[in-house]
Amino acid sequence: MNKHVMDEAIGETRLDRNTQGVIGKGVDRYEGKLKVSGKAPYAYEHLIGEKVAYGYVVTAPIGRAKVKSIDAMAAQSLAGVLTVVSGDEVLHSSAQPLSPAVPAMKGEILHYNQPVALVVAESFEIARQAAKLVKVEYEAKEGHYEIESRRGTGRATEEGPMPADTKRGDFEKAFAAAEVQFDQTYRTPSYQAAAMEPHASVAKWDGDQLTIWSSCQLLDLNVQQIANGIGVDPSKVRLLSPYIGGGFGSKLGIGPDAVLAALGAKAVGRPVKLALTRQNVFQATSRRGETIQRVRIGTTKDGKITCFGHESETANAEGEGFFEPSGISTVFLYPGEDRLVTHRVITTDVLTASACRAPGEATGMLATESALDELAERFGMDPVAFRKMNEPEKDPQEDLPFSSRRLLDCIDEGARRFNWADRPSKPAARREGEWLIGYGMSSASRANSLMASSAEIEMSPEGRAIVKTSMTDIGTGTYTILQQIAAEMLGLPLDHVDVLLGDTSLPESSGSGGSWGANSAGSSVYVAAEALIEEFAKRLGVEAETLTLKDGHAISGNRQIPFAEILNGDTIKVQGKIEPGDTSSNTNQASYGAHFAEVAVNATTGETRVRRLLTVGTAGRILNMKTATSQCYGGQIWGIGYALEEELVVDPRSGLIVNHDLAEYHVPVHADVPKLDVVLLEDRDPHASPLAGKGIGELAIAGVGAAINNAIYNATGARIRSYPITMDKLL
Ligand code: MOS
Repeated sequence: MNKHVMDEAIGETRLDRNTQGVIGKGVDRYEGKLKVSGKAPYAYEHLIGEKVAYGYVVTAPIGRAKVKSIDAMAAQSLAGVLTVVSGDEVLHSSAQPLSPAVPAMKGEILHYNQPVALVVAESFEIARQAAKLVKVEYEAKEGHYEIESRRGTGRATEEGPMPADTKRGDFEKAFAAAEVQFDQTYRTPSYQAAAMEPHASVAKWDGDQLTIWSSCQLLDLNVQQIANGIGVDPSKVRLLSPYIGGGFGSKLGIGPDAVLAALGAKAVGRPVKLALTRQNVFQATSRRGETIQRVRIGTTKDGKITCFGHESETANAEGEGFFEPSGISTVFLYPGEDRLVTHRVITTDVLTASACRAPGEATGMLATESALDELAERFGMDPVAFRKMNEPEKDPQEDLPFSSRRLLDCIDEGARRFNWADRPSKPAARREGEWLIGYGMSSASRANSLMASSAEIEMSPEGRAIVKTSMTDIGTGTYTILQQIAAEMLGLPLDHVDVLLGDTSLPESSGSGGSWGANSAGSSVYVAAEALIEEFAKRLGVEAETLTLKDGHAISGNRQIPFAEILNGDTIKVQGKIEPGDTSSNTNQASYGAHFAEVAVNATTGETRVRRLLTVGTAGRILNMKTATSQCYGGQIWGIGYALEEELVVDPRSGLIVNHDLAEYHVPVHADVPKLDVVLLEDRDPHASPLAGKGIGELAIAGVGAAINNAIYNATGARIRSYPITMDKLL
């Protein structure tokens, strides 16, 4: 298998010498038309016309408890009911991060509305009806459902997405000695990802071989989770997820539907379809944990940051190691010799907290970017000027160089385009009728990561290419960018490249998550394409370096040879693989940006309208300007939600997630979203990958809510440190 070898001196790649002009172009999403016209089957839409059975999940209407007994007699005897499945496999079916603690908990209800039984019937309606007839007796146990009253009781876990503690120097001492001390605490609530397509699965057994279609982001991990959940070897399971209606982290792990559909299908001896209801999705998959974040910043008397502290407390279920990594960008974004970034997990008996779009930055920068605004205000400085004065030259934690960091360029370009100079210099200074007008800004950053990923390119004798990888397209444009990379590298028109994704029988991939998908899966295609070019060069007896592929021809010197002639009737298959160590690691890699917001706040009602929103970003080479920009629109809209609307409300007495569907959990609708502006600046990061690109998906959500918060302060003079900034908090 071909591997990418990083040059010591980072030079040009084939993509820099490209002649096709396909990379970077805003090509429409390959699967977009299929999705909107109903031609792209989602998980639940497989096996149409086959004799399938339907599942419905019975959930426990109680918080922490023990199951005493289950009586499924009445449900079983309803006409059309095939079976009722219960037991620990059902109870643990939603333990998607596969916490080691969970399997030991026999008969335990860990959170309100945890799956407790599965009804399988001839129709969805019968299964739903029968679910109401399943009688479960519980023994209630004492539970904890909020973190506010138990601050300081958190645990430091080793299994989180970053170390629980990141320290440098002696923060406490430096802070105590600082000429100016800033110390504020911010709160972010729990959130739901609420992807459009619910978690859904269709399971079919052929003997001991399971084929399952499920809406998942990381197929090669998810197939293991499914196998573990049903107690079979992963080699016995094939997982398919060719088209996905959004994930946002909630499908990094499996939902309970996958294991339950497989168990149900086994029990009834025919395929089973199971789509979670929206209420199930909100209460039985995963959520983003609420946070309480203390931000302490010490500065000199003229505003130079000397030390930075960011201590987060967040919630998760018993035994869970994941925590919302709110300090993930704090460790490198801001200067300060003495540093302290910590995360503590307070145990609650509420739905597992896990990854949700931009785990860490999305919540952490709501706090830190508001803090920077407050601090700038204290010095009477413009927040843009304050950030420019406090830009570190290297990674302040590790002393590493930044691979590329155009943060100040983003801020400057944004300020110019937004006409930031027109910002009211004092709070509550501009009024239009009953509306108070304000401007706010924030930085954005998202740590970059590259994951192991592999792909195959098959070229047919007539010179058409098929790209194959188990990668997923969760709506981000993966099909399209992989097609673009292959077309660019191989000198083929786009429509001569087919892309096969979403199937664990294809070469193992990074999957979609953490904004690493495009760069990781894309690099594997790049490496595979290099292997194909080498094969061509070998056949032509020339050096690969001297070969240019264009319009279905290999060009070497003044020779132009059609691919069909080189292939000579053969089908060629080549593989490519990228691994994290393959690229330079002695740098700090992140994507950067800046957000600018204008809001109008109603002086009588406290209603906030976002009037303008501009994001300027850099993320290395942009592979498709349109899909990258659309990802940023999504991030901006999430930012509006986090600033003003979104909050998963947990009843502190019972652990019930009160607003458990899209009628009650408020997300921005069209009327809440102004015309969005996104500008992506030219950038290359050859340290990040052979594509010289970095993650873009989650960049634009980072900080945008704080920019809106800062604009609200500028409009009203009211500083809110508890999100979302609802009307009641402003009055
Ligand atoms: Mo993202 S929260 O890693 O899908």
